[in-house]
Amino acid sequence: MWGDKINDNEYFGYNNDFVGYLPIDLLEGGNNSSDGLLIVNHEYPSPLFINNYTDEDFRNGRIKTIEEVEAEKRSVGISIFRVKRVNGEWNFTEDESYNRMIDANTQIKICGAAKNTLGEYATGTLANCSGGFTPWGTYLSSEENFQDYFVSENVWEYRWNDVVKDAVIEHYGWVVEVDPFDKNSVPKKRTSLGRFRHENVAIGISGNKKAVAYMGDDKVNECVYKFISSKSYNETDRTANMDILDEGELYVADFTNNKWQLLDYDKRAELKSAFTSQADVLVNCDRSSKLVGGTECNRPEDIEINPLDKSVFIAFTNNSKKKDYDGSIVRIIEKNNDPESLEFEWEVFATGGVDSGFSSPDNLCFDSKGNLWVLCDVSTSKLNKDRYSSFKNNSLFMIPTVGDNKGKAFRFAAGPVECEMCGGNFTPDESTLFVSVQHPGEGSLTPESATSRWPNFGNDIPRPAVIAITGFDS
Ligand code: FEO
Ligand code: CA
Ligand code: CA
Ligand code: CA
Repeated sequence: MWGDKINDNEYFGYNNDFVGYLPIDLLEGGNNSSDGLLIVNHEYPSPLFINNYTDEDFRNGRIKTIEEVEAEKRSVGISIFRVKRVNGEWNFTEDESYNRMIDANTQIKICGAAKNTLGEYATGTLANCSGGFTPWGTYLSSEENFQDYFVSENVWEYRWNDVVKDAVIEHYGWVVEVDPFDKNSVPKKRTSLGRFRHENVAIGISGNKKAVAYMGDDKVNECVYKFISSKSYNETDRTANMDILDEGELYVADFTNNKWQLLDYDKRAELKSAFTSQADVLVNCDRSSKLVGGTECNRPEDIEINPLDKSVFIAFTNNSKKKDYDGSIVRIIEKNNDPESLEFEWEVFATGGVDSGFSSPDNLCFDSKGNLWVLCDVSTSKLNKDRYSSFKNNSLFMIPTVGDNKGKAFRFAAGPVECEMCGGNFTPDESTLFVSVQHPGEGSLTPESATSRWPNFGNDIPRPAVIAITGFDS
């Protein structure tokens, strides 16, 4: 949970979103389900619970000190640490060979098709929302609402620009690849995957062994993307895969014509007349995507590939501008079930609302039986109010994709006050499901009047934390 030590000098960050488990013996072909690495990312700070910086401070124009901004910079990014399950119970494990925090000050190498225009390194990673694992055992983290960090106009913004004068905004909004098994490895921003409000990455491997990355841009009226690598995935040589996401073609989903539209400066006249280079196209995906026919969607959040039939599930969380208040889960079926296909069919798999019982689906994960696990995120300003009253606290649902209960949502777990439930990842034996509880007590105005004190209760502040749900063993 927030504030826990992960090594001698670093701490578990704030507002954990993605959580995923990798077996400690993965690189030797193992699937150890009681000893592994947990990879967790931390989306945004709480100025209140980190620095006692209140809404009133914001309204009074109080400038944060350098120390306060530095504390917030240490609270976001990616935590990697070892965990073991002993006598049924999961425990953090001290291990200096793995445990580390990648934060908003860590040097990140800029790679891929836009690197020449952006410089060699970016300072840190921030706004990390969901993400995904690769078949070669790396982690992909998704930089989402980067725009909130370096502005000072709204109360939810972090006004780092008061003291960080040299931030390069184009250095954020990318997918960051990290090798959790090599503590000394430098994380890399994969610019060939485009720059937008990245929610997640789900990787499929095609029949030709190409790596295909599905991604959502979580902003009102933004798009769904996929990237197809030029090189083939090599199952027996991990090193050969480590930069595979730097070369390939980026496409955007056109749900009107059921086609993936290419975002290539040299091959699309619409892009040549509006941009100066492929790097320019990639930095500005929100504009380039529309020029080639990308469909404006209802905030694409997480994407997962169904292990049973390889169809691609997308959580469209909601879009009040289009009067879609509860969102839906849409399924893409690639032509010939080939992830490389440039044509697809699609259908609505489940719709949020009072009848289905869930609203605002955000994170997804599958188990091996094809059950879809859905973690919901009604925003704190709407949660338990007015038309959202019946949904209660944000919860975790299970929706079968086959059988008699196909498409029916079962509430499995409810989160504490004002949290969103996120993450969602099983151990290989499916005995444990790891889940993130993000921003409990988010509506608090002061620490003394906190609206939640989860998980320590008493007089403690609320602390975002990851939880392990066990009992699936039998
Ligand atoms: Fe950070 Fe799209 O949720
Ligand atoms: Ca999310
Ligand atoms: Ca997921
Ligand atoms: Ca969210």
